[in-house]
Amino acid sequence: MTPSAVAEPAAEDALAPSGGGPARYEVVAIPGDGVGPDVLAAGRRVVDALGERHGFSVAWHEILVGGCAIDAYGVAIRPEDLDACRASDAVFLGAVGGPKWDDPNAAVRPEQALFAMRGGLELFANLRPVTVHPALAVSSPLKAHLLEDVDLLVVRELTGGLYFGRRTEMSGAPGTRHAVDELPYSDLEVERIVRLAFELARARRRHVTSVDKANVLATSRLWRTVATEVGAEYPDVALDHRLVDAAAMQIARRPGDFDVIVTENLFGDILSDEASVLAGSLGMLPSASVGSRVTAHGIHGIYEPIHGSAPDIAGKDIANPIGTILSAAMMLRWSFGRVDLAGMIEDAVSDALFDGFRTPDLMPIDVGVAAELTPVGTRGMTDAIVARLGGAGEAA
Ligand code: IPM
Ligand code: MG
Repeated sequence: MTPSAVAEPAAEDALAPSGGGPARYEVVAIPGDGVGPDVLAAGRRVVDALGERHGFSVAWHEILVGGCAIDAYGVAIRPEDLDACRASDAVFLGAVGGPKWDDPNAAVRPEQALFAMRGGLELFANLRPVTVHPALAVSSPLKAHLLEDVDLLVVRELTGGLYFGRRTEMSGAPGTRHAVDELPYSDLEVERIVRLAFELARARRRHVTSVDKANVLATSRLWRTVATEVGAEYPDVALDHRLVDAAAMQIARRPGDFDVIVTENLFGDILSDEASVLAGSLGMLPSASVGSRVTAHGIHGIYEPIHGSAPDIAGKDIANPIGTILSAAMMLRWSFGRVDLAGMIEDAVSDALFDGFRTPDLMPIDVGVAAELTPVGTRGMTDAIVARLGGAGEAA
């Protein structure tokens, strides 16, 4: 993998429509369960509206994955659907899971689809950017002055560690029960994710924080050794190492200090949920899971909001679609090679928030402040964003 294959594409790399005709992208759409279908429809509308104005189209191939696939086929994802994901330019996902399929002892579970996609498509890097929109600082439990400089990116290793290690399920009689989860990492697995973090940092504030538990874990000592070796190749990027417990504290105390955080699978799972609190609502945050496979347009990946399926609010037109819409922007940037148009989606979201549109999760508790705002549902927020998308000729 060359560094240029992993670096976020620069604006000037935006692909012109290929082959003379308008660009067309093949995307597998996975609405999934709970609010997944609500938010995915919103994201698709924004992409289609942008396509109409800027001369590209998306062929959406919708498939059942997650709890709905367990109901329909008896498995969380069928092999042919995984093949369809592999053959696409990108995968756009809502959310999977729900109380109906929640039994952790069940033989088939919705999350199995996530692991099959992450492992099967070799999407070793999960990118979770966290920024705080100035108009939403009031919605965060942290004091507003701590949030002013927050612009961090969690780069989570996604196909190794405890999630993919060998497991020995519990056995034995009460009092002698025993279970084992193995945490394996190879130097090459560490190297590729750390290298991606450095490449991304170069286009940001040039600061990588590598998070481990090197005072306890052998895999963390390997991680730290490899991160230091890779860091030596990037003298222009500052590297520091932090233990995961101290990093968790620092994310709450001084979140503005972080730029790129790179860490192993489970630590990244936990720290990215913690960091998401900064943005005021879980509903705001996008994610991309990418590997090193390059398509005709960009890098293959899965794009999804970081929130779950929220079954209690499913189908009620109240879920916040912004995390999904910003995931669509990441899809344009990474998988379509359309950096110019990705920025237009992000600007439209920002403008809708500045103009006071709020889904219920974003409404401040202070009724005086809330009275100045415009309450909207999933569709209303999507309308506001579509109305603020730049037209043809406005692409940056
Ligand atoms: C995530 C989720 C998943 C994970 C769960 C649903 C298995 O928490 O994508 O962060 O732990 O990776
Ligand atoms: Mg998680």
